[in-house]
Amino acid sequence: MAKTKTKKSANEKTSTKQKIIFLGSEAAPFIATGGLADVLGSLPKELAKNKNLDISVILPLYSNIDDEFRSKFKFLTNFDVVLSWRMQYAGVFYYEYQGVKFYFIDNEYYFKREGNIYGFFDDAERFAFFSKASLDTIARLNIYPDILHCNDWQTACSIIYVKGMYFSDEKFRKIKTIFTIHNIEYQGSFDMNTFEDLFGFSEENKPFIEFNGCVNLMKGAIEMTDILSTVSPTYAKEIKQPFYAHGLENIVVRNEQKLHGILNGIDVDYYNPETDKCLFENYSATDLSGKATCKAELQKILSLPQRENVPIIAIISRLVSHKGLDLVRQILETLLSQDVQVVILGKGEASYENYFTHISHTYQGKCATIIAYNQDLSRKIYSGADIFLMPSKSEPCGLAQMIASRYGTVPVVRETGGLNDSIKAYTGGLGNGFTFADYNAHDMLYVVNEAIKTFHDKKAWNDLQNRVMTTDFSWNNQADKYLELYNI
Ligand code: GLC
Repeated sequence: MAKTKTKKSANEKTSTKQKIIFLGSEAAPFIATGGLADVLGSLPKELAKNKNLDISVILPLYSNIDDEFRSKFKFLTNFDVVLSWRMQYAGVFYYEYQGVKFYFIDNEYYFKREGNIYGFFDDAERFAFFSKASLDTIARLNIYPDILHCNDWQTACSIIYVKGMYFSDEKFRKIKTIFTIHNIEYQGSFDMNTFEDLFGFSEENKPFIEFNGCVNLMKGAIEMTDILSTVSPTYAKEIKQPFYAHGLENIVVRNEQKLHGILNGIDVDYYNPETDKCLFENYSATDLSGKATCKAELQKILSLPQRENVPIIAIISRLVSHKGLDLVRQILETLLSQDVQVVILGKGEASYENYFTHISHTYQGKCATIIAYNQDLSRKIYSGADIFLMPSKSEPCGLAQMIASRYGTVPVVRETGGLNDSIKAYTGGLGNGFTFADYNAHDMLYVVNEAIKTFHDKKAWNDLQNRVMTTDFSWNNQADKYLELYNI
């Protein structure tokens, strides 16, 4: 006991850096299924460049994490985690990567699963365990942060614990919490009988956590966190409206004084057409000649005619409804009746997978569908295509439009969430893409046709491509905005 105390005070004296710990369920390059992983793989790295900051990320040690990384992780400690009446083993592994301290919580019962990392019958228990084990790791290793930055429902529970169960502990009480909503659709809503029996929440916090007769972890975090943020300024406004908030609009409105919208950045070193090894040929904004090779080779591998003057329109997306695929479904055959090539890469709901596969069989040589989540192929498509279509019904931020831009592929987007904040309508001399406002298939088709028309005007297209490629989507300024938020 005495030994631990001496260690702690020494720590406190030497550490003048501001300490920030991120909690999340995925982070690139270790484990990635969506945009959250990109953010947790790049924002901490950007912040870590600031020598006054000490940046850590805590993640579950999924069995799906590649052995190439796992073999480098160092075992630090283990302890038992109490979840209501359960007592479960937690091991802690450590790895420093790109200036960021990564901690991995090990428990094979929860994290050694086949296939995906979500969608199991016991997800509530798996992430309650992770949330609690993360806080216990902080205590055990004496790495209390100034800021605890939690992301989405999987770590919402940590906010509820810090402000509830752990609040009597002064070291936890001093922590400022920030909760970032990456998508309000997924709230972590569970049967009320989990309230005490699984989460071990206390009765006095019930008004914050209960929603429509269920435990709602996202609601709990929105109510209890010190700072609330989401991933674009437009989405911060949208989630106060029923159309976007999936029931939580009133909860967001009553917490709006602590709500901020900060647009995500992307890792511009990772997504760089000048160095990207997945590309058939590298190129830059000043010399686009390699992009023509990327296009020709892409056409070749997808069995599309190798023609330079036909526009390739690409969709790279999870195949789920909020990505606006119903609009695409309504006009795709009309679009394919023109001189275009359409490429779709993604995985998701069976109805979309079947539809796009069917259409590409019917329109062979004009439409290619690949049902997969494939990083390498996605980069070949980003670089080889001309137009990138992203007509989301709702889009908290969206990263694909920024990645496409980086590769000189011009985005066509609906004016929602982060799409609205990152892509401005082309009006000759201005703008970095094509946009439409209403969720309407023919409005979308109209702007796709505007993009096609511009594509055939080589001078205008080259100017536009240049502007698109040089738009700054890096974390540079955006990370500073988080820093301001941490210090309000
Ligand atoms: C979620 C959102 C997406 C956002 C990403 C990263 O996946 O749906 O719009 O870009 O999180 O914040």
